[in-house]
Amino acid sequence: EKGGWSSFMAKEISEQPDAVANTIRARIGDDGLVHVPELDGLDELFRGVSRVVIVACGTASYAGMVGKYAIEAWTRLPVEVALSHEFRYSDPVVDASTLVVSISQSGETMDTLMAVKYAAERGAKTLSICNTQGATIPRESDAVVYTHAGPEVAVASTKAFVAQVTALYLLGLHIANVRGSLTSEQITENAAELQAIPEKIGEVLAQHDEVAQLAHWMSDTRSVLFLGRNVGYPISLEGALKLKELAYIHAEGFAAGELKHGPIALIEPGQPVFVVVPSPRGSQTMHAKVVSNIQEIRARGARVIAIAEEGDVAVLPYADTVVRVPLAAPLFEPLLCVIPTQIFAMELASAKGLDVDQPRNLAKSVTVE
Ligand code: M6R
Repeated sequence: EKGGWSSFMAKEISEQPDAVANTIRARIGDDGLVHVPELDGLDELFRGVSRVVIVACGTASYAGMVGKYAIEAWTRLPVEVALSHEFRYSDPVVDASTLVVSISQSGETMDTLMAVKYAAERGAKTLSICNTQGATIPRESDAVVYTHAGPEVAVASTKAFVAQVTALYLLGLHIANVRGSLTSEQITENAAELQAIPEKIGEVLAQHDEVAQLAHWMSDTRSVLFLGRNVGYPISLEGALKLKELAYIHAEGFAAGELKHGPIALIEPGQPVFVVVPSPRGSQTMHAKVVSNIQEIRARGARVIAIAEEGDVAVLPYADTVVRVPLAAPLFEPLLCVIPTQIFAMELASAKGLDVDQPRNLAKSVTVE
């Protein structure tokens, strides 16, 4: 069933435009407004909640972190992201005014299931984002928004991640519509941006060979760092996780602003560092700060691979390699910036002769706590 692909992971990476498009389908109306039919009947709940807690593990938790920025921006509800296992055993503050959103590709992750059950016992309303019809977590939840990524076989999550992030955007816009925290015009603008993403992912995928070549050149690398800020921060964590899982090398993601609070001590000549550069169209200040981070690490000999939007020339004097992503509204950039990190990890693992679909010690779905 791999078709002509060398691995399920390669196939699933290539399916990401469809994963996003299928998750959007039937949830943006002809009027351009977002309406998720599965959430019908929950208007009163969305108007009444005072906070949102997202629970998830691994890659799904990074999708949750991206979702936090978008949901807070659009609904002005405070959103917290908790690892399911940390949430469950930390006596968390949850009550009837808390909406607990779980995210799980498999819908069977025991840590997340236990967090959902616990939240329900405490009186919270539970909503799950899940890729597997009829799985345990959606069955235990008050409501479910399915992602339509299609079956994900490779242990390392790729297309499920972009579908989860898409579902969170839809959830945020749906709640904003119900609460009136965005105007109809703002909702239709954001919805149109989201609808344009699948084609843009296709443009990033077209750079597969350049990223693969980079990975092959770097196949004896022993450590890779990732920096990102704001919505780029969870992408730095996700890029690092992929590399650990697939290529078994040390990789760490940092919030770029943390650099001078410690991680910069790790920079020595030749250290590869991926930097997810935020769009200057979002915040010029943030962009300038990340460019200055790049200068700082470059001055210490880092080998900088920048993931930056087309036309961002500020990175050119300092980056050894620039991977371009098409222009998108800044909140949606994670759906584009994550792609090169997935390809890089897969290709580096392949260059080392490793099995990218079945990395050692890992299971596709973790059904024990
Ligand atoms: O099925 P789930 O989404 O609940 O799985 C959560 C994590 O175990 C999963 O995302 C894991 O981190 C992946 N192997 C990442 O590639």
